Amino acid sequence: MIQADFTNAHTDLTDPALIARVADIHKRLHHHPDFMCGWVKYPFQVSDAEISEIAEAAQKVREKCSVFIVIGIGGSYLGTIAGVNLLRPPFDEGGTMGNPRIIFAGHHLSSEYYNHLMTVLEDPAEEICVCMVSKSGSTTEPKVIYAIIKEALRKRYGDKLSERITIITDFNQGYLQKEAQDNHIRCFEIPSDIGGRYSVLTAVGLFPLAVAGIDIHAIIGGARQAASVFMEPRLEYNDCYQYAATRYLQSAAGKRMEIFEVYEGNLLYFTEWLRQLFAESECKDGKGLFPAAMQMTTDLHSLGQFLQEGRQDFIETILFVENIEDKIKIPAGVAGNCTSLHCLNDIIRHSVCKAHQKNNTPNILLKISEFSAFTFGELVYFFEKACAMSCYLTGVDPFNQPGVESYKTELKESINSMINSIP
Ligand code: PA5
Repeated sequence: MIQADFTNAHTDLTDPALIARVADIHKRLHHHPDFMCGWVKYPFQVSDAEISEIAEAAQKVREKCSVFIVIGIGGSYLGTIAGVNLLRPPFDEGGTMGNPRIIFAGHHLSSEYYNHLMTVLEDPAEEICVCMVSKSGSTTEPKVIYAIIKEALRKRYGDKLSERITIITDFNQGYLQKEAQDNHIRCFEIPSDIGGRYSVLTAVGLFPLAVAGIDIHAIIGGARQAASVFMEPRLEYNDCYQYAATRYLQSAAGKRMEIFEVYEGNLLYFTEWLRQLFAESECKDGKGLFPAAMQMTTDLHSLGQFLQEGRQDFIETILFVENIEDKIKIPAGVAGNCTSLHCLNDIIRHSVCKAHQKNNTPNILLKISEFSAFTFGELVYFFEKACAMSCYLTGVDPFNQPGVESYKTELKESINSMINSIP
């Protein structure tokens, strides 16, 4: 469950014009959907049988490998890495047949990284499976890394390589569905009306997360719960829309940045996904809040200085997990009268909040009931919907990313002109 607390948000959400706009945008999202609004209803549209099919395919992959490589970038990998880091215990990296280690690739082009990856691929002690995720099937980084990894693995697995690959793509774009058909590779579809950063709850996230051993029925259960709770059109009763409206009002009032602050290390990758979701959706036409992230309490001893005394043009959105198994006790006298680690974490959160209130820094507190696949599904849906609402309030299209596309176009032109210049 997600509970929002706007006590320190310093915004007035009672303006009738704002309430009416939110209700209108709600209708736009639900009843006259823009083409890319497939994700709004997807948790209800995807059947339990389809999720079971993904889970069964993932189980077969789990049994076949000790290393599972997820190739993708942006929306095609950030939700998965967020889920893996949130839901796998911190010191359990897997690495055995039946519980593979998850390695990400195609999300950058660091030769140093891939030099090391090659040694893993060549290690006879490891059994490798690969998942190539690309909605467009044309993004350079994953396309190049997929080709490199395939070539390396073909030396090991020959004709049997296809059995070790899974492709996830939009059937109406790019070359990957054909690649799957021609080579008898298992392939899952990304619905055409769901964009990259809104696709975590489709096979894009579900399949690799299931290979990581995560209960994907529970993820969809959480998403369905959030979809029901946040279907409420009235701003007053909808925490998701209140969060969106608060961000929008703060941005309109001159704030330039939203800092996501997490008090659990395994939420850090979730903030990476949030950074992409909000930056690509909202930051256009010179508008939007720059999304930043901080891990508490670590960053209190570095960036905390900025929060307290730097330029006050940000809002803080705090993600705090309430119920954590609190079995570690602090020896008496070390932290005053506080003997519970989780309680101390919470006391620090309160203290930070109090200190920042001296500057009147707006903050929004999002309390998450616990770490679970269910709450992961809830969180993803909550933020997707809040982001879309926020963008429409701001007056930008939540579903395009012209800034990202312009670099992709430049890159393709540069590569092609290099190829043409080879004698
Ligand atoms: O949200 C988006 O659409 C982008 O961030 C994409 O996910 C990213 O550029 C990768 O694109 P693709 O999945 O087509 O390779």
